[in-house]
Amino acid sequence: MQGVTVVDHPLVQHKLTLIRDKKRSTKSFRELLNEIGTLLCYEVTRDLPLTDVQIETPVAPMIGKEIAGKKLVFAPILRAGLSFVEGMTTLVPSARIAHIGLYRDPATFVAVEYFFKAPTDLGERTVIVIDPMLATANTAVAAIDRIKEHGAKDIRFVCLLAAPEGIERLRGHHPDVPIWTASIDEKLDEHAYIVPGLGDAGDRAYGTK
Ligand code: URA
Repeated sequence: MQGVTVVDHPLVQHKLTLIRDKKRSTKSFRELLNEIGTLLCYEVTRDLPLTDVQIETPVAPMIGKEIAGKKLVFAPILRAGLSFVEGMTTLVPSARIAHIGLYRDPATFVAVEYFFKAPTDLGERTVIVIDPMLATANTAVAAIDRIKEHGAKDIRFVCLLAAPEGIERLRGHHPDVPIWTASIDEKLDEHAYIVPGLGDAGDRAYGTK
């Protein structure tokens, strides 16, 4: 599928099976979300451009590599994006964080915003929008709308699971935003849950159900 990368690394797929299991504890669910976040961060940053830098080891001078240009912003969609982003900041501890508070109205599934706080220079940065579940894509589309209103031009989207319907909607609204996911599941059910999915990621991560 164009613009979509399915991360099929064995560690990601193994941990994905563990986290889907309905018997998994809240503690373990959150730990796995965090760990998979780290692994997906590795993949989503794979093509960041490098530049040469002169350094000296204790033995000799050399030309090393460092990440060039734009610095990263992670933009988790609350709540479930929070445990996911923790794993990503393990790899990129200096990344800035933009918090996007959106929930989907349980009756209409429309995204409702309740919080937005981002660095002021989004236009100068690569912004990675993070939500474990790409279901209808209403929240993802709304989050990316807001990020773009604040000047971001270079945006990527990372999720744990995606429904085909969500991918189609997100790619339709924001074809410039590539997607990374650990799985494209079968479909959405009548409550807009991903099937087979893993249930409500926020409730499972924070033990609220
Ligand atoms: N949000 C979730 O947490 N789970 C789904 O299956 C769909 C949306």
